[in-house]
Amino acid sequence: MTDTLSLLKLRRSVPPQFLTAPGPDASQLEELLTIASRVPDHGKLVPWRFIVFSGEGRAKAAEVVAAAFRARNPEARPEQVEFERQRLLHAPVIVAVVSRAGPHVKIPEWEQELTAGAVCMTMLVAAQAMGFSGSWLTNWFSFDRGVLDAFGLSASERIAGFVHLGTATSVPSDRDRPVLADIVSHYGA
Ligand SMILES: Cc1cc2nc3c(=O)[nH]c(=O)nc-3n(C[C@H](O)[C@H](O)[C@H](O)COP(=O)(O)O)c2cc1C
Repeated sequence: MTDTLSLLKLRRSVPPQFLTAPGPDASQLEELLTIASRVPDHGKLVPWRFIVFSGEGRAKAAEVVAAAFRARNPEARPEQVEFERQRLLHAPVIVAVVSRAGPHVKIPEWEQELTAGAVCMTMLVAAQAMGFSGSWLTNWFSFDRGVLDAFGLSASERIAGFVHLGTATSVPSDRDRPVLADIVSHYGA
């Protein structure tokens, strides 16, 4: 328990440019996705799914992002396009958590979306517990219909996050955290 608390107290996101191999191997990834799927889920709807980007698939996905950037920015310089391509080429393994939230007779969509967020966070914490580091990012292309089509998302699906996973080459120093007095109130006090 102490270990869990220490991990949670000190946890930091590590941006993709500071992630390198090794990332989780096939069995570690399976364990991670299993753990990440163990989240509170009102109605047991499983309103998320995973897309894994690694190896050749990761390179193809990076090209999709670069092409979408070029299409949006026809005047972009080659180095700018390359910068966008690299977004998916730093971390050795990237997992897209896809929200499948939708209308339901009982469970609000908002709650289903929160569950997909819990999946991302659980994966990040579990990866750190395994000795890896990571980042939960969306970037502009999570909202680009052409990119989403290329990645196989249906019109009703959305990216909850790309969880970039690997080994940290350096860990950023901590950032300011919320002051509890600013965000805590005691009802009725
Ligand atoms: C849904 C979601 C999307 C995010 N997308 C981005 C992003 O595209 N780019 C970015 O720099 N940070 C993004 N962040 C923030 C980082 O994940 C992270 O919170 C930040 O780097 C601070 O790190 P920390 O986890 O150590 O506090 C996102 C966070 C969330 C929850």
